[in-house]
Amino acid sequence: MIRLQIPATSANLGAGFDALGLALQYYNYVEMEESDTIDITSADGTPVPTDERNMIYIAAKDLFQVCGRTLHGLKLVQTNNIPMTRGLGSSSACIVAGLVGANHLLGNPLQQDDLVDLAAQIEGHPDNTAPALLGGIVTAVFDGRRVHWVKQEVYTKLRFVAMIPDFELKTEKARACLPTEISHKDAVYNLSRAALFSASLLTGKFENLRTAVHDKLHQPYRMALIPHAREVFDIAYAHGAYAAYISGAGPTVMAIADEENQYFAGKMRFSLDNAGLNGWQVHDLKIDNAGCVLLG
Ligand code: HSE
Repeated sequence: MIRLQIPATSANLGAGFDALGLALQYYNYVEMEESDTIDITSADGTPVPTDERNMIYIAAKDLFQVCGRTLHGLKLVQTNNIPMTRGLGSSSACIVAGLVGANHLLGNPLQQDDLVDLAAQIEGHPDNTAPALLGGIVTAVFDGRRVHWVKQEVYTKLRFVAMIPDFELKTEKARACLPTEISHKDAVYNLSRAALFSASLLTGKFENLRTAVHDKLHQPYRMALIPHAREVFDIAYAHGAYAAYISGAGPTVMAIADEENQYFAGKMRFSLDNAGLNGWQVHDLKIDNAGCVLLG
């Protein structure tokens, strides 16, 4: 059995819709071995599809097909720490596990670029899959076939604090609420902020982040699908967050705080409880610079 560690990811980072994402030190684990049958189990009890509809299996099968091989079965043991349908890249983690694992089983015929492309083709956009594979913060353009990407490792003194509610928001629903067209002015609003985000993160100009995470492409529409999100944003800013944004398609709200703001997560927990938002979990995370790794 091979064992893989795959990071959670936070996509969009405010204005970088479908273009920016980063990996977090919050991991799923997958053990994998080729088999004549499909044998899928969940080590932690999280319900997962145990047949050919399993996303890890689908991605592995796709990779075999690309390599001209037929996958007859797979033994998988999944440990799912990343909560599903919460905006933290759980489906991308499965796709990446399937691709990296299957590539390894075949003796690594595909290169890293091929895996980044294939993962985006399966997911439809690259902003979770690319950082799940590569780690760090990834800027990516998907032209429908290939991903043109840059990975940058991040060594900031920042904490990414995820406020994860106890309800799901499916990406399809969160994409269906978006407008089909926006004005030229709004396009400029977003592209300038997306560019500002990564430049500010990487150069330590953290005071720019609050401006950089504002956008007109998705967050104003998705806020309506996430009860109490506005309150969570307000509480995060009241406790000194540099920025807060909807992680991926939501419903998780991500706050970026300084490492020296060491009680930020505890204050969030306390304030959320006081506001009656007991269903929201708080996770204090750091950026992962490694991406998906083979542990053995
Ligand atoms: N960029 C994607 C979105 C990420 O916001 O819909 C979620 O898959």
